[in-house]
Amino acid sequence: MRVLSGIQPSGTLHLGNFFGAIKQHIELQEKHECFYFIANYHSLTTVHDAERLRALTREVAVDYLTLGLDPQKATLFRQSDVPEVTELAWILSTVTGKGLLERAHSFKDKVAKGLPVSMGLFSYPLLMAADILIYRSDLVPVGRDQLQHIEMTQDMAGYFNNTFGQVLKRPEPLLGEAPVVPGIDGQKMSKSYGNTIDLFMPPKQARKRIMGIKTDSTPVEDPKNPDKCNVFALLKLLADPQELAEWEQRYRAGGMGYGEAKKRLLELYEDRFGSKRDLRESWLARPDDVEDILRSGAAKARAVAQEVMEDVRQACGLLTARNAEP
Ligand code: TRP
Repeated sequence: MRVLSGIQPSGTLHLGNFFGAIKQHIELQEKHECFYFIANYHSLTTVHDAERLRALTREVAVDYLTLGLDPQKATLFRQSDVPEVTELAWILSTVTGKGLLERAHSFKDKVAKGLPVSMGLFSYPLLMAADILIYRSDLVPVGRDQLQHIEMTQDMAGYFNNTFGQVLKRPEPLLGEAPVVPGIDGQKMSKSYGNTIDLFMPPKQARKRIMGIKTDSTPVEDPKNPDKCNVFALLKLLADPQELAEWEQRYRAGGMGYGEAKKRLLELYEDRFGSKRDLRESWLARPDDVEDILRSGAAKARAVAQEVMEDVRQACGLLTARNAEP
């Protein structure tokens, strides 16, 4: 099975990204042929600063490598190193109704908020479909928020195939357990809410962030409801089941303050992510090695994409290398 997913380089990666996607991506490399790309074309819908986009792209690569992505097992590359996806996105746009794109939640949300909508943002699902279809992907691990985009991709594959013949493969979404990852204010953890706990914060900052998680004002001696506590929700992700059961009891029994739970959360964060700061620094210090990994990933991915594009061009009457007159 070929697994494919894209990660937007639009901000520093945080616990929400890790438990929502990265963790599953890395686990999948043991079982399937995985293609993961850094979706820098997509990020151009929000990041208009060349230096920043380059830095964010590099950081996503470094973070994945630090967290255990093995370039021998999984193919990691930059979306823009396979420019054929933009060609496929264009071709898909010619068989896709405008109404389909107008129903996209991502687009509707921005409109509802009164934000300006570029054509790039409007066409976002077309490019995402092209990303998926150009590698003949079987499975696309995504969070629930991306499910509609996968369904649209299935629709677009159908429109293309009905119009031009069976060329594109229909992918299936792979939904993870999709845990709830609250931010420090209790809303969903998201860069746009400014409530994130980033993956490799310096120790002092990590401490400040975690000790600053919002909790209610139940006095120390009173029983507490773990299911309503942001700290507990995060402990759920980081502590093993046995320890978690103990915390649950202590919450319900009373006599435990939130500060204590936060301290333990900080320790668990340090064990899991803090312990990898040096490794991350060592990747950051070797940009050429990272670049080599991305380039060889791109070469592998591009070979697949070029083959599929030959079939696509052939099917829709464009000139191909195969049918070109010498
Ligand atoms: N839209 C995805 C996100 O924001 C990123 C993405 C772009 C993607 N292309 C993709 C994910 C293709 C899966 C497959 O998370």
